[in-house]
Amino acid sequence: MRKAVLVTGASSGVGLALCKRLLEEDHELHLCLACRNRSKAEAVCEALLASHPLAEVSIVQVDVSNLQSVFRASEELKQRFQRLDYVYLNAGIMPNPQLNIKALFSGLFSRKVIHMFSTAEGLLTQEDQITADGLQEVFETNVFGHFILIQELAPLLCHSDSPSQLIWTSSRNARKSNFCLEDIQHSRGQEPYSSSKYAVDLLSVAVNRNFNSRGLYSSVVCPGTMVTNMTCGILPPFVWTLLMPIIWLLRFFANAFTLTPYNGTEALMDLDEDTAEKFYQNLLELEKHVRATIQKRNHQS
Ligand SMILES: NC(=O)c1ccc[n+]([C@@H]2O[C@H](COP(=O)([O-])OP(=O)(O)OC[C@H]3O[C@@H](n4cnc5c(N)ncnc54)[C@H](OP(=O)(O)O)[C@@H]3O)[C@@H](O)[C@H]2O)c1
Repeated sequence: MRKAVLVTGASSGVGLALCKRLLEEDHELHLCLACRNRSKAEAVCEALLASHPLAEVSIVQVDVSNLQSVFRASEELKQRFQRLDYVYLNAGIMPNPQLNIKALFSGLFSRKVIHMFSTAEGLLTQEDQITADGLQEVFETNVFGHFILIQELAPLLCHSDSPSQLIWTSSRNARKSNFCLEDIQHSRGQEPYSSSKYAVDLLSVAVNRNFNSRGLYSSVVCPGTMVTNMTCGILPPFVWTLLMPIIWLLRFFANAFTLTPYNGTEALMDLDEDTAEKFYQNLLELEKHVRATIQKRNHQS
């Protein structure tokens, strides 16, 4: 049976690069592109099918910042699929990013330069807004819309015979100091993106706690720093051009600077279930061996 994979935010950047790589690895995949913009999704679908004619590529239209849309898409998916093997929760926004120029230049000439570029700590603030659902847009898009999606899709994800995987695109910008349980939507702060990515990390832990026994596993991955639609607005194009040689140089010292969406998908692709299972079996073997050695040693002494 074909593996069924759902990718949110498949129309550009990491999501699009991920779809291409998934199909390179498994030509017969059933890949479902979960996108808000149907015409963009159709163009992507056409291009993917042209390069991978054996695959089945379909579209579900979903705006994760609109709960009605999430409910409708979930119903459609439940009618079209019997199960989903992998769900990549990748769609995300960082609206109106404002760069702290002073922090950027003082960081450039400090020992913290690599840390600063790979985490954007202290560099970025965003202007959030309220959605039609009355929620903070960054929270609803990056966290809550996806949370509702997995809650709704539980019948397709929870099978004790063979597990399903959720893989969240998180970020090194996730910071505990920007997250607060009394304000989970970060309505009072200026770093909603960082808060939302920390919330994603927490949610993944909670999903594991609540769903592992039902055959659903969750992981978070940071794709590194890349220039995509989301990040290109942080700086004017000429500043990106000026910074590129520095960022290329930094890439020698820190692999966080993945630079392109293709490189950025590396960590997402690395979470291979078969390798994880083999690794687990190896650990069990090693455990058996170590226990036997300790027992033998105790017996001799
Ligand atoms: N770029 C980086 O350096 C970086 C670093 C760490 C983590 N990330 C994470 O990587 C993920 C992908 O971002 P990217 O860099 O590839 O940016 P991107 O090119 O802007 O891709 C974002 C994707 O999310 C979709 N999206 C946004 N809002 C949506 C909504 N309300 N409903 C459905 N889809 C929505 C976009 O759809 P449209 O095409 O319709 O806009 C697009 O497909 C994000 O979660 C981001 O936080 C990126």
